[in-house]
Amino acid sequence: MNFLEVLLAAAVCNKTGKAIISRQFVEMTRSRIEGLLAAFPKLMGSGKQHTFVETESVRYVYQPLEKLFMLLITTKASNILEDLETLRLFARVIPEYCRNLEESDIVDQAFPLIFAFDEIVALGYRENVNLAQIRTFTEMESHEEQVFKSVRETQEKEAKEHMRKKAKELQQQRREAAKGGRGIRRDTAVMDHTPMETPKPSYTAPASKPTSTGKALRLGKVIGSNSSTSSTISKATTPVIDQEGVHIVIEEKISVTANRDGGLQNLEVHGLVKVKINDEQYGKIHVAFENNDKRGIQLQVTELKEAVANHDRIMTHPNVDKKLFQSSSVIGLKHPDKPFPLNQDVGVLKWRYQSKDESAMPLLINCWPNETGQGCDVNIEYELEQDDLELNDVCITIPLPSGVGGPVVSDCDGEYNIDSRKNILQWNLPVIDSSNKSGSMEFSINGHADDFFPVNVSFVSKKSYCDLKILEARQINGGAVKYSSEVLFYVDKYEIV
Ligand SMILES: *[C@@H]1O[C@H](CO)[C@@H](O)[C@H](O)[C@H]1NC(C)=O
Ligand SMILES: *[C@@H]1O[C@H](CO)[C@@H](O)[C@H](O)[C@H]1NC(C)=O
Ligand SMILES: *[C@@H]1O[C@H](CO)[C@@H](O)[C@H](O)[C@H]1NC(C)=O
Ligand SMILES: *[C@@H]1O[C@H](CO)[C@@H](O)[C@H](O)[C@H]1NC(C)=O
Repeated sequence: MNFLEVLLAAAVCNKTGKAIISRQFVEMTRSRIEGLLAAFPKLMGSGKQHTFVETESVRYVYQPLEKLFMLLITTKASNILEDLETLRLFARVIPEYCRNLEESDIVDQAFPLIFAFDEIVALGYRENVNLAQIRTFTEMESHEEQVFKSVRETQEKEAKEHMRKKAKELQQQRREAAKGGRGIRRDTAVMDHTPMETPKPSYTAPASKPTSTGKALRLGKVIGSNSSTSSTISKATTPVIDQEGVHIVIEEKISVTANRDGGLQNLEVHGLVKVKINDEQYGKIHVAFENNDKRGIQLQVTELKEAVANHDRIMTHPNVDKKLFQSSSVIGLKHPDKPFPLNQDVGVLKWRYQSKDESAMPLLINCWPNETGQGCDVNIEYELEQDDLELNDVCITIPLPSGVGGPVVSDCDGEYNIDSRKNILQWNLPVIDSSNKSGSMEFSINGHADDFFPVNVSFVSKKSYCDLKILEARQINGGAVKYSSEVLFYVDKYEIV
């Protein structure tokens, strides 16, 4: 029996059985879920550790969490031992987000919790989902994230210290190698190969209606707080373009911390696809994608974060058809009769990619200051590492020592300007692509090697990092639909430290 076929809903209730949040995993009317939840307190025994009750149609398994209950509703066909196992996993997620296990905490954290619940279901508990994985796949906005961050920062600091020691010896070697015309070298890349995934089959124009077994996971309604949600991705300044009846946005942001002497501390890419229907007649559509990713990035069907919040704590998500996407890279709603909501950005796909492999960096930067005795000669090079990318408005920012006068620039591809108030040198490259992949600049100034770090990089790109392309938008019962689209790949943080 498949987990997804037997788990009906997951809820957090108070002692009287009132649902604070509830996530339905199968198609269910609101009155049905409210009825099921309302029946629970009457059925619930008193005081035992986690236990269960059954009615003619369903089973409730629940576990006390101080003043609250974690409650799962399953079909009676499911395996009770597995239900209890699943229950424990759900119950362990709650304190990850809510310190005090109070009703108000649950309301505050309703969205992160719902997404964490979805991850448990999406990943499938049979694959031994653990909390770390759930955290990785959800937004990590809890208090735990702060703890996690500070631990990571400490580790990064230690790593930096270590690398700095090595840097001294490597610098000399590298400089000589470069002088020998070998260009950028990579010495200490930490290899961390992410397993390859066989490419997904491309769109095979489905017949007028999507296959629907009625048993797959459906993203049902959420009963939750209507408090503000945080979106997956911060809004980047997007150019205003004329939108068609269907507008599709592929948005990715990258965060990189690389070492000055080679090697990558961390690279992370977050991606999101949003669909917006501007014209009512195109509400019922399928959007086909071509996924050319070679890194094994897991694209996950997601739901509306900026969802339709109405005023009675019920949120309606469009039910994105997960199976359809998995089988044919097509995004559509589970229910062919239900349209996408009008005039709303609907997040339909998300992904997150992390690597410590230097070859995953879009742009390699090497900055080699050489202390000469009279000052410092600084040589900086960049090289496009991903040939299929085209980076625009690249700006490489190098800090300068203060109070020593301006740098003397001896050689520079592209343009530069010096901001003497901020003590930075900005090196601007309008376009870096495979036809013009690398460049360098050299300047001299009084200072020490450490003065020129961290070097920061920013760029925007009209090509997505994970190489996801839109093939077409098509009405479910009709022809191709004209759509407008934007691809925006941009830098959140890109530091050479
Ligand atoms: C929910 O929305 C209503 C109406 O907009 C508002 O009055 C109420 O404060 C909101 N509740 C929360 C928890 O944000
Ligand atoms: C660094 O500067 C010193 C002193 O000017 C010079 O002798 C040496 O060749 C330079 N090293 C490199 C790698 O350019
Ligand atoms: C390559 O890019 C550099 C930096 O933007 C620019 O100065 C140079 O003219 C470009 N070369 C060609 C052949 O386009
Ligand atoms: C480089 O970026 C970091 C964080 O992204 C920021 O704190 C720092 O001020 C930036 N440095 C420069 C010289 O822009």
